Amino acid sequence: MSAVLDVRGLGATFPTPRGAPLRVLDGITFTVGAGELVCLVGPSGCGKTTLLQIIGGLRRASEGEVLVEGRRVTGPPPELVVLFQQYGKSLLPWRTVEGNVSLALENLDLATDERRRRVARNLAVVGLTTFEGYHPYQLSGGMQQRVAIARALARQSDILLMDEPFSSLDAMTRAGLQDLLLGLWRDFKKTVVFVTHDVEEAVYLSTSIAVLSARPGRLIETIPNDLPHPRDQLATREDPRFLRCRRRVHELIGRTMPHA
Ligand SMILES: Nc1ncnc2c1ncn2[C@@H]1O[C@H](COP(=O)(O)OP(=O)(O)OP(=O)(O)O)[C@@H](O)[C@H]1O
Ligand SMILES: [Mg+2]
Repeated sequence: MSAVLDVRGLGATFPTPRGAPLRVLDGITFTVGAGELVCLVGPSGCGKTTLLQIIGGLRRASEGEVLVEGRRVTGPPPELVVLFQQYGKSLLPWRTVEGNVSLALENLDLATDERRRRVARNLAVVGLTTFEGYHPYQLSGGMQQRVAIARALARQSDILLMDEPFSSLDAMTRAGLQDLLLGLWRDFKKTVVFVTHDVEEAVYLSTSIAVLSARPGRLIETIPNDLPHPRDQLATREDPRFLRCRRRVHELIGRTMPHA
């Protein structure tokens, strides 16, 4: 299988207001094949968001390179879309739901009819058809997040980079969006890199789990996840393979924490 994403020897160092520069990522190398759903887990501050920003062409690496479908990333690649950690801030408050989703299409040179159709189709996918005239403040957190997902999907990119997209949501909304993501991933054959703090979420969603160390983030191990599809919030989480995989991830994270 050819790699859709090829991350080679990536390092990131930030200047600090005083003192030595801060080493955030170190020697990160991995590949993601077409149709994989890779979850990235690691302690807070280990550089997960920085890594997604570099892969998404929004930030430069200090060393190394990223190839998307064989081409070196020098700016945001068209075949890739990033869903940000702070989704609330990523919606424009003065735009309606429809206006926020169509934002993704504004530089694509589409006829008005086609743009409307795409917006409507993607709002239907996330179950928000009747809310297209609402503004973000009139929606719950989960609904706002579904608007952000609809906007990302409207680009019809093959690759989704998702930065803790469900972390601030309640358990029920989160479970619903996990299943929505798995359905979209399966139906539209997306390649996904999904950052999460939540080990259970990583095991539930992924085809493999990449575990990063505490800062500077290094890739400790990539754990394959052979849990069968379709996944189910109850049965999958009780499967002995789920429990084994969860234990393995916890062991690796535990080993990397500074106090361990
Ligand atoms: N623009 C920047 N300038 C300086 N330092 C930065 C910048 N962006 C991030 N950092 C530092 O890089 C480190 C990693 O940040 P990053 O947001 O990538 O971590 P993270 O793994 O996503 O954390 P979290 O799990 O809390 O979201 C942090 O120590 C942060 O202070
Ligand atoms: Mg982050």
